[in-house]
Amino acid sequence: MTLDALRALPKAELHLHIEGSLEPELAFSLAARNGLELPFADVDELRERYEFADLQSFLDLYYACMTVLRTEADFRDLALNYLERAHRDGIRHVEMFFDPQVHAANGVPVDVVMDGLLSALEAGLTRFGITGGLILCFVRDLPVASAAATLESVAHRTGDLLGVGLDSAEVGYPPSLFEAVFARAGELGLHRVAHAGEEGPAEYIVESCERLNVERIDHGIRAVESQAVMDMLVRDRIPLTVCPLSNVRLRAVEHLGAHPLRQLFDAGVIVTINSDDPAYFGGYVVDNYSALAGVDYTLRELATMARNSIAASFASEARKTELQ
Ligand code: ADE
Ligand code: ZN
Repeated sequence: MTLDALRALPKAELHLHIEGSLEPELAFSLAARNGLELPFADVDELRERYEFADLQSFLDLYYACMTVLRTEADFRDLALNYLERAHRDGIRHVEMFFDPQVHAANGVPVDVVMDGLLSALEAGLTRFGITGGLILCFVRDLPVASAAATLESVAHRTGDLLGVGLDSAEVGYPPSLFEAVFARAGELGLHRVAHAGEEGPAEYIVESCERLNVERIDHGIRAVESQAVMDMLVRDRIPLTVCPLSNVRLRAVEHLGAHPLRQLFDAGVIVTINSDDPAYFGGYVVDNYSALAGVDYTLRELATMARNSIAASFASEARKTELQ
């Protein structure tokens, strides 16, 4: 199966932390532009750190690199870089996560982040015909009050958001902590998604569905540990945004051949393929599709997952019809 065949599949990316698309070269050039120092000598030394033991060891580096993102132009450049790449890979629609609480801690107001990202999305639509939008993620290892305040700070511009999500360190931070915040997001008319069952237990997947009323689960791979959870995902048609290369790099899965995607797909769970943090995990979306082709997924199966990504997106019905 050629890369071109995989690129040609119309597809959406539904699980992309835009800050995770920050390539080392751009990180150093933004640091220079903003008069900041990164704690690494050069691009090569930074790349050498891309060896992760688990989610937390990745998050430590990811948050360190994010400190170079300061201005609206930085966020625009970051997202435009991603969109150019996405266009080459046949991505027609993208729903981008961002972490406003982390940027606020670096002194960057949420409006600056959103304006930069929205400006890139507008350019992406004009230049490449890529549709999409923003999903504001709450960092689950920060206080719930901070998540609630962040949501209120954007309540006047929910039209600029597709929805809210929940990310960062999972174990020890159950979804139920965020029940009131997600209820408020629902009142504001926002879509809801949450990372669950990446490192955390299958129970967090159920909690996300029942207490946070999410429409999709990000990762969700530990669902395979519980037949009841698998049955729920199939029955309620809850899509999973699976990120195969990420799971291997963060050692949630030993190797791609042992990835739970096969069990999920064969059981009839609606699975989609995504990159998560492509600059850090050795691959963008098509690299994830290609790696799966290398462990015996057929083009027909991969095309089903690509179709799933469009159906599971928050694009309008008209746009979905156009892309299917
Ligand atoms: N933030 C960025 N990437 C993440 C991941 N894979 N899991 C949780 N939070 C994240
Ligand atoms: Zn993620």
